[in-house]
Amino acid sequence: MLIAALALLGSAFTTARAVTVYGQIPLAQTIGANPSAGSAVPPTKTLAAYDKTVLNPPALPSPPPAAAYTLSLQKDAGAVNGLSIPHVGGSFWGFSVEMSVISQVLGKNSSLIQVPFLNLMANLQERAGSVVIRLGGNTQEFAAMVPSLPNGHTFAKADSGSTQTTKTPAVLYTVDMFYMAANISSMVNVGWFFGIPFNDSTNWRLTIAEQAQAIVGGHLLGLQAGNEPDFYQQFGRRVTYSPQMYTDEVQSLINTMNQNPLILNKNMLIGPSVATSGTWTPEQVWDTGFIDRFKDNLYALSVEHYPNNNCAAQFNTGQPIEVPQDVFPSYLTHTAAVNLVQPYIHSTDLAQAAGKPFIMFETNTASCGGFPGISDTYGAALWAIDYGFQMAYANFTHGLLHIGGQNVYYNPFTSPPTNQSSYNEWTAGAIYYSTIVVAEALGKTNTSRIIDLWGNAGSVYTPSYAIYENNVLSKVALFNFMDDKSGASNSQVTITVPAGAPSTVKVKYLSADTVSTKENIMWAGQTLGNQYTVDGRFRGSLNVTTINCDTTANTCVVPVNAPGFALVFFDTNAEPLSIGQATETFATTARTKFHNTVTFDPAALSTSNGHSGMSKDGFGSTSVGSISKATRRMTVSGVGVMLGSAILGGVWIVRGLLR
Ligand SMILES: *[C@@H]1O[C@H](CO)[C@@H](O)[C@H](O)[C@H]1NC(C)=O
Ligand SMILES: *[C@@H]1O[C@H](CO)[C@@H](O)[C@H](O)[C@H]1NC(C)=O
Ligand SMILES: *[C@@H]1O[C@H](CO)[C@@H](O)[C@H](O)[C@H]1NC(C)=O
Ligand SMILES: *[C@@H]1O[C@H](CO)[C@@H](O)[C@H](O)[C@H]1NC(C)=O
Ligand SMILES: *[C@@H]1O[C@H](CO)[C@@H](O)[C@H](O)[C@H]1NC(C)=O
Ligand SMILES: *[C@@H]1O[C@H](CO)[C@@H](O)[C@H](O)[C@H]1NC(C)=O
Ligand SMILES: *[C@@H]1O[C@H](CO)[C@@H](O)[C@H](O)[C@H]1NC(C)=O
Repeated sequence: MLIAALALLGSAFTTARAVTVYGQIPLAQTIGANPSAGSAVPPTKTLAAYDKTVLNPPALPSPPPAAAYTLSLQKDAGAVNGLSIPHVGGSFWGFSVEMSVISQVLGKNSSLIQVPFLNLMANLQERAGSVVIRLGGNTQEFAAMVPSLPNGHTFAKADSGSTQTTKTPAVLYTVDMFYMAANISSMVNVGWFFGIPFNDSTNWRLTIAEQAQAIVGGHLLGLQAGNEPDFYQQFGRRVTYSPQMYTDEVQSLINTMNQNPLILNKNMLIGPSVATSGTWTPEQVWDTGFIDRFKDNLYALSVEHYPNNNCAAQFNTGQPIEVPQDVFPSYLTHTAAVNLVQPYIHSTDLAQAAGKPFIMFETNTASCGGFPGISDTYGAALWAIDYGFQMAYANFTHGLLHIGGQNVYYNPFTSPPTNQSSYNEWTAGAIYYSTIVVAEALGKTNTSRIIDLWGNAGSVYTPSYAIYENNVLSKVALFNFMDDKSGASNSQVTITVPAGAPSTVKVKYLSADTVSTKENIMWAGQTLGNQYTVDGRFRGSLNVTTINCDTTANTCVVPVNAPGFALVFFDTNAEPLSIGQATETFATTARTKFHNTVTFDPAALSTSNGHSGMSKDGFGSTSVGSISKATRRMTVSGVGVMLGSAILGGVWIVRGLLR
């Protein structure tokens, strides 16, 4: 979203919305002249993505919830009322990448793809089987494909001075954007969403649909028809606009697509993507007959929503500035997730009746960049796990966490602030861990069903969920949102399973010292590293806690720190229990900025967790320029990605990989 439009909005500007800080975000790092090329040291002015603000944890609730409480659970799903429908599963949380920052996140072009990004996706794929990514956002409306751009660039910006929203730079891209997506999907199982521009509904620009279908092929999942249309009038993109007018425009789009022989699949649209913070509710769109009318043309129904916005501080809108310290507590209770999801329960019912997925197409902690001291903390990670589970419980199919580049606080991951993007100098946002946790919790079987347990007398500080897979109790998720170093607020959760508790359960904890920290966040003892140290792989030894249960009383007692999160596995052979990441054996040596070398012990490859299917020969090491043909035989994994890659000038070159 754009500064110019914001200035126009003035006092009408009161709601949360999806905003990318245009003009402040380096469109493509490769274009922003950064004289310190080759150095990923923090820039002099700290960009939001690397902000160091640390807030005080919220005060403890008074009276406090009980420290010890019992959850009484059924073993068989058949005995449980209110379970969600089975989900696609672990790919629940995906990502939404603002078009203007694709080159920061995915890479410069189809032959220079960021390896940390691939590693981060590989972690998720290992747990979930696949990952979904949307390339779009506000910038999709004016984006345009051009025949070529200078210097091998796939992305650039141009002033769209001729448009109504004057100061909006249009994202320019070449056909290579689709090859990038296709190349990424050939290495990690990513399914893509693109957006059809809605800036001009008379002369539809459908190149993106034609090219995405032709090039991305089966990895293209859907095409968004309109992004937050409930803001089009307010943002000056339409003079007047109503849900009926939107529906009529979708009809016009479908008519145009039907006449276009280059668009082979006319039935993969996604809508209405209303922000719900604006003037429209989803119901107002449903009331136009949207679902019945377009059922055959739709891949999924969608909404977009952020719980709050930081627009006043980011853009001097004149509205009262939200003080992060005051807002922080609102993220650290179960009420946050419940309130975010409640307005959509009727809509997810309608989607279910129509047999369509329902997707939260863009979300995060707050629009206009998020909040310093909140959006990138362990507290936000707890919030995003609860929010993801709550959506899954309410029969959403996916949620997509927005990535806005280096000028926002909320990214799940961010590349270094130079165009040399060394692979081990990325920053992982705390909410990336949430995507990993939800991926493990919902898993790969396509049978996961989840229920909010409302345990501990319904305390909003200690929410809990049960997950059933193949119709049996498979996992329990336990939260403790309180921050209390004394230990007095730690939970002791007794899980009783009258039909018979197992002799042991295994627990993976997501831990950190405090809700306000951005550092040393650990999932089962492993971390991606702190700011500027991330290469997308987990480090440290996997630490899964075994808890002995009382098989006479049929109880298992699980401790959860304040703050803390525990994922309790009832099947002690469950696959995620052995998934960590390559540890020291995959040490990476950055020798110089321009000549990085990856070394690893081939013996470790065949024995390491989660990397089965690796062939044993020929993977001793890679060095610059060496691409082993043998890599073609590997299954896709984070290691595979590393193996088939070579670094040149700090940027990984990926080619000839896999399949
Ligand atoms: C990095 O940016 C500088 C300055 O704009 C440019 O000269 C250089 O070619 C860029 N390097 C890469 C790998 O894109
Ligand atoms: C829509 O966007 C395209 C690409 O930026 C631009 O060329 C065109 O003039 C815009 N049309 C309108 C009506 O704003
Ligand atoms: C990607 O950029 C590099 C460096 O500018 C260039 O050598 C290469 O040809 C480009 N690849 C594509 C597919 O454009
Ligand atoms: C990536 O895309 C380019 C087209 O730009 C293609 O030539 C190349 O073979 C692709 N690489 C992989 C690994 O798919
Ligand atoms: C999800 O769908 C199931 C099956 O239709 C239904 O029983 C359940 O109530 C729904 N969940 C919510 C929160 O509406
Ligand atoms: C789960 O669904 C996906 C997508 O439809 C499919 O590719 C995968 O094979 C399914 N997994 C299982 C275990 O059935
Ligand atoms: C493993 O995790 C448990 C539970 O958080 C902790 O008590 C223990 O110290 C950890 N062990 C190691 C070796 O880090």
